[in-house]
Amino acid sequence: MAREFTRVGVVGLGTMGAGIVEVFARNGVDVVAVEISEPALARGRATLARSTDRAVARGKLAEADRDALHSRVDFQVGLDALHTVDLVVEAVPEHLDLKRRIFAELDRVCRPDTILATNTSSLSVTDVAVATNRPQQVVGLHFFNPAPVMKLVEVVRTVITAAEVVDDVEALCARLGKVAVTIGDRAGFIANALLFGYLNHAVSLFEARYVTREDLDAAMRLGCRLPMGPLALLDLIGLDTAYEILNTMYRRGGRDRRHAPAPLLRQMVTAGLLGRKSGRGFYTYDKPGSSKVVPDEWTPAATPADADGAREVTRVGVIGAGTLATGLVGLFGRAGYQVVSVTGGAEESIGIGGAVRDSLDEEVRRGGLDGADRDAALARITWAATLDQLADVDLVVEAVTGGPGVEQTLFASLDEICKPGVLLATTCSSLPVIEVAMATGRPADVFGLHFVDPAAAVPLVEVVRTVRTSAEATATARAVCAALGRTAVVCGDRAGFVVDALLFPYLNDAVRMLEAGYATADGIDHAMTLGCGYPTGPFALLDAIGLDVALAAQRALYRESREPGLAPAPLLEHLVTAGYLGRGTGRGFRDHTGR
Ligand SMILES: NC(=O)c1ccc[n+]([C@@H]2O[C@H](COP(=O)([O-])OP(=O)(O)OC[C@H]3O[C@@H](n4cnc5c(N)ncnc54)[C@H](O)[C@@H]3O)[C@@H](O)[C@H]2O)c1
Repeated sequence: MAREFTRVGVVGLGTMGAGIVEVFARNGVDVVAVEISEPALARGRATLARSTDRAVARGKLAEADRDALHSRVDFQVGLDALHTVDLVVEAVPEHLDLKRRIFAELDRVCRPDTILATNTSSLSVTDVAVATNRPQQVVGLHFFNPAPVMKLVEVVRTVITAAEVVDDVEALCARLGKVAVTIGDRAGFIANALLFGYLNHAVSLFEARYVTREDLDAAMRLGCRLPMGPLALLDLIGLDTAYEILNTMYRRGGRDRRHAPAPLLRQMVTAGLLGRKSGRGFYTYDKPGSSKVVPDEWTPAATPADADGAREVTRVGVIGAGTLATGLVGLFGRAGYQVVSVTGGAEESIGIGGAVRDSLDEEVRRGGLDGADRDAALARITWAATLDQLADVDLVVEAVTGGPGVEQTLFASLDEICKPGVLLATTCSSLPVIEVAMATGRPADVFGLHFVDPAAAVPLVEVVRTVRTSAEATATARAVCAALGRTAVVCGDRAGFVVDALLFPYLNDAVRMLEAGYATADGIDHAMTLGCGYPTGPFALLDAIGLDVALAAQRALYRESREPGLAPAPLLEHLVTAGYLGRGTGRGFRDHTGR
């Protein structure tokens, strides 16, 4: 029989503590909620009230239940009030000395059978436990932000924790409607170990002015269907908390440079820009604690694209006969452009023509397009097998697949054929756009257009600006993407652009974690979906993308950065060598043959 917890304590009512109080009180558990001072207590009480009022307004909580929830919470200043509770969850700032002091004090104040839990994200639970005389009764209970919403709790068991204590807190998590994943005491546990390298990398891309904050966040929301972009998420987490977590992970996790906090984070914390809780972080909020973003000096002006000098584009050439080219020909045709499709020969032109027609027919069947619009789109497309048909288009998009040097040769030919002022775009993601641009005598007119796979479904296009791309060319690319109904994000010319540069190292880290035997593929997938709200876990995603694709992307990132932490995980290499490439081959990290 699992132990019954009827009265619990929560220490620290900040971003996490207030949410944890809500989780307990919503589930019928009495809570003693403790802060360090009266003003901090008032803030904690206000946070809880805001959250429950919001739940009532959204119809997720009845008014009577809200009142009952509040009646279960006893707000107190100081730890002495905790002498009656069965369990304490500590959620004070991420400093080891502070947590050790608090645990020593809790040990003195609480009944001998009380279980003591820390919500630390990165500190050693063992180090905290040994500050008490009951280390066997100390665990990590790592809730996720926002605690009332996120389903996951990481239960951290140290080498000293008693087995029945782990059983009891696991049963408690189930009673709270949470999914517990029990793991050993390692820096960052599962989710943060995978999340924080990614968040820190995102900050450094922003800090290097590689991409704007809005574009960075949009790239990850639209490109990976994440619930929030990384900078908005850091504002929610709290920049001071994020800084401390990174710092500890760097020290505890083998001094991986990717965890050394980006200098900008430290500067923002010093300046008091802590994120939502202080009203300003990467974004500005209408007041401290609010989630409502208000415009500030970094907010991009909503000027029409032609104010930036965008050129007029009415005729577009698309080169290639593969899946991407097929999608692009249809997309441009539907958006009202005159399209010249150029392939390697008449047979390919017949093939792509049929495929474009089929996909438009399919759209008509699904009700996304009417028959007349389909016919008009098809009438705007001409099919050609030689590049000289591109002499008077305004924009050329290359989507060929081929060996090394193919893009350069093609762009050198386009340079001879196309009229002056034509914009030349490459969709290639395997080599720097500047290498393609320099094959022409007009590198200012060349940019990358990276359609995130699958191009038809993902509403995002990365516009890659090289060191030679002109402002007009970039503005034109943005305007064309908008006309296609796609969101453009503009970024520099580095391996992986934005999405792949942030996505693949995270996937590679997940493989390393699996390889190290710290958690199972299911445990890791659960941690990211239930703890961070990701639409799929890393292993499900790797199997869908293809392990060979992931390996090639990771190799390119490693080659460019020489960052040891980006070296492909040996397990990924081995699976690819073995032909286990994911869903496409029936087996990757999981076996898909029987599904
Ligand atoms: N922010 C997140 O997204 C997140 C997610 C999971 C876990 N965590 C972890 O939760 C813990 C708290 O982080 P947070 O973001 O809620 O911090 P926070 O700064 O928002 O809140 C900390 C609270 O602790 C209070 N406090 C400080 N000293 C105290 C004391 N001696 N006694 C009682 N209260 C005291 C502060 O007044 C403050 O209200 C950290 O260990 C953090 O790593 C944070």
